[in-house]
Amino acid sequence: MSMLNVDLGDRSYPIHIAEGLLGNADLIRPFIAGQQVMVISNETVAPLYLDALVDSLSGLQVYSHILPDGEEYKNLDVLDGIFDALLRVPCDRQTTMIALGGGVVGDITGFAAACYQRGVPFIQIPTTLLAQVDSSVGGKTAVNHPRGKNMIGAFYQPRCVIADISTLNTLDDRQLSAGLAEVIKYGLIRDLDFFAWLEKNMDRLRQRDPLALAEAIRRSCENKAEVVAEDELEGGVRALLNLGHTFGHAIEAGMGYGNWLHGEAVATGMLMAADLSYRSGWISREAVQRIGKLLQQAGLPVEPPAELDIERYLRLMKVDKKVMDGRIRLVLLKAIGSAFVSDDYDADLLRQTLACRTLI
Ligand code: NAD
Ligand code: GLY
Repeated sequence: MSMLNVDLGDRSYPIHIAEGLLGNADLIRPFIAGQQVMVISNETVAPLYLDALVDSLSGLQVYSHILPDGEEYKNLDVLDGIFDALLRVPCDRQTTMIALGGGVVGDITGFAAACYQRGVPFIQIPTTLLAQVDSSVGGKTAVNHPRGKNMIGAFYQPRCVIADISTLNTLDDRQLSAGLAEVIKYGLIRDLDFFAWLEKNMDRLRQRDPLALAEAIRRSCENKAEVVAEDELEGGVRALLNLGHTFGHAIEAGMGYGNWLHGEAVATGMLMAADLSYRSGWISREAVQRIGKLLQQAGLPVEPPAELDIERYLRLMKVDKKVMDGRIRLVLLKAIGSAFVSDDYDADLLRQTLACRTLI
């Protein structure tokens, strides 16, 4: 088992990564504050894994609230339903909330935990690759607003993260690929060796070789934990974790939440960021092609949707948390393994990237 630590002083917490962790009471129980536990899951994940989790919590008062499945339900109405479930019990301030599911469940549960009675403890049990390598770590919690993704939220750290790799066996191939987009992101922004490792091991990952998955999750979480420890509230370096996200969020919102998976939109967005970096003279055409090839090997889309025109992209990209004084700031590449944030790109070159339908 790998055990990493997110170093945030007295709010530090462990990330456990291994197969078969779900029913491991010894890992979870030390992080349960009081006697009450509220597990939030969804209609897909709960039938698969809720019983094993609840069994490991015997002796406690365990309640569950099951959400509909989908990005389109990561909204204020569904959040209100969680508050209603907590108040119906009623749950007190020592209640521990557990998010059992992918990034949607994790983000909305974390935000509910941040708000309920001004904050109750919560635990992340991520069950998608994307959630195990990214969303469960670092304390970003949120719901979407029709005008923009993740626009309503809070920074609120979990007490621990338990990534049970066995849960990935029930994930479909498309979702596995979506998670690989965020894995590739770490290689692109700060870890050239990891990028090269991914080029060699992508087939093993897609075949769900447990050793390869454990290694990819560990190295991704290591990268994320280092960045979060350095810049928890995204005053600086943490913004690099948004490579591809400004383009990607525009694709997700523009195409209707749930039509493009978050990871798919990020993948194409990362290639658009690479394309703009190339047009700006920062990286070579060969680097763009190398990135595109790895994304394709991971089963990810590399062509932006034809439905969005330049003006629509720009309107959507302006609803982004990195926007400052109305100027869109983008994460761009100096090289594979080295990213930077800039608002100093040529607006005409951005328009060329947005107009381009074939990036590699
Ligand atoms: P998701 O939560 O929608 O899960 C994807 C699908 O897989 C869903 O249908 C889900 O029910 C199903 N599923 C989950 N676990 C399963 C399992 N073990 N077996 C079978 N099916 C399973 O999507 P996601 O890709 O996990 O997360 C995307 C969300 O995460 C987006 O809302 C995104 O904004 C957010 N996100 C947040 C952060 C952060 O730092 N907080 C980072 C990245 C992404
Ligand atoms: N997923 C981006 C971040 O956590 O900062």
